[in-house]
Amino acid sequence: MLSREENELVTRVGPGTPMGEVLRRYWMPALLVSDLPAPDCPPVRVKLLGEELVAFRDTDGKVGLLDEYCPHRLASLFLGRNEECGLRCVYHGWKFDVAGNCTDMPNEPPESRFKEKIHLQAYPTVELGGVIWAYLGPAEKKPEPPGMEWLRAPEQYRYVSKTMEYCNFVQGIEGGIDTVHSSFLHNNDLANKGLRQIDTSPRLEVERTDYGFRYASIRNAGDEGNYVRVYQFVLPFHQFRSQRIDSRASTGKAADVPSIRGHMWVPMDDENTMIFNWMYAIDPAIPFTPDYIVKAETSSGRGPDGESGTVRRQTRENDWLIDRERQRTKTFTGIKGLNTQDLAVQESMGRIVPRWREHLGSTDKAVAAMRRILLDMVKDVRDGRDPLGVNPDTYRGVRAADAMLPKDVPWQDAARDLLVARV
Ligand code: FES
Ligand SMILES: [Fe+2]
Repeated sequence: MLSREENELVTRVGPGTPMGEVLRRYWMPALLVSDLPAPDCPPVRVKLLGEELVAFRDTDGKVGLLDEYCPHRLASLFLGRNEECGLRCVYHGWKFDVAGNCTDMPNEPPESRFKEKIHLQAYPTVELGGVIWAYLGPAEKKPEPPGMEWLRAPEQYRYVSKTMEYCNFVQGIEGGIDTVHSSFLHNNDLANKGLRQIDTSPRLEVERTDYGFRYASIRNAGDEGNYVRVYQFVLPFHQFRSQRIDSRASTGKAADVPSIRGHMWVPMDDENTMIFNWMYAIDPAIPFTPDYIVKAETSSGRGPDGESGTVRRQTRENDWLIDRERQRTKTFTGIKGLNTQDLAVQESMGRIVPRWREHLGSTDKAVAAMRRILLDMVKDVRDGRDPLGVNPDTYRGVRAADAMLPKDVPWQDAARDLLVARV
């Protein structure tokens, strides 16, 4: 539970808000590299932390991320012509390079030096792991580029997609670090008990780290041992989880492509989030195939016919296409797509959930810890300290794990090797 004031503090992300200032200290995923596939391709709109921006790839392949509105009379540069190393406004022809300099002003006399006075807000970007990252914070505080293990995975071993979510980003993170709901929300086979249905009230252990926290959910799997999933939460909004064991199967059989997956819940504004979904294969002998990617994305609710980018088919307006007959006979929710189930419950809470009305229980430990950390970050930045996890060295070497572990050894020891990055 948070007070109204605390809820405001953690959820508001615009310029000048306390959480907005925290988030501006990290590199933010802004786009997929494939959104800007080639030099001089069409520009795209980007909404990030309440700011309306436009991104383009110039003739040299460099990415520019600029204020969307032309400083002349504020026409949208989304309509602009991307040509000869700059984005040209279609209203009166002013042209800007990736650094926001005005390089041409054809509606002024040739001798005019007016263009030298004009500068458009431009943010630095870096391309890593199929994602274009942007830094919206103070220049002197710009950290090293992000260093998660999945960013280092070779291309055939990695896949990233994005999905729009119509609610505040903290709701998304809370779903992502709430391992317990998978026993319920994601139970897609009412007739057969999967690993996560054997014990629906796992014990949670949260350990704070210098990048956020890691936590284990420990399920009693009888004679086999404990089924332990260790998640990583890397600030400010990054979840890693392991898919080594396919826990949707009724036994602990190994997943067909052992992989680690996760999401980043990137605030577009206070009430909308762009989720970046990533996965990477961790067995060098088993890369992803195009077929596998389609299968994995489709079961998550994305894929060619599912929810992707800003195209959402299952929304509040159509009750996320809940199928009551299916809910009665086959799956817990009657909603198609694992991640669409997440979107449905999170969006069902409203754009910003009133957390002062909640009743948290023992399995909400990770959720409570995450909120506490976000509040601490607000305080740290306000007091002039760096927030946790801006330095990529703090999390470069970590990964998530899931495994059947012996009952008599602490998970920290039994899973030690599994929790070390190898790429
Ligand atoms: S509004 Fe862009 S050039 Fe005039
Ligand atoms: Fe989920």
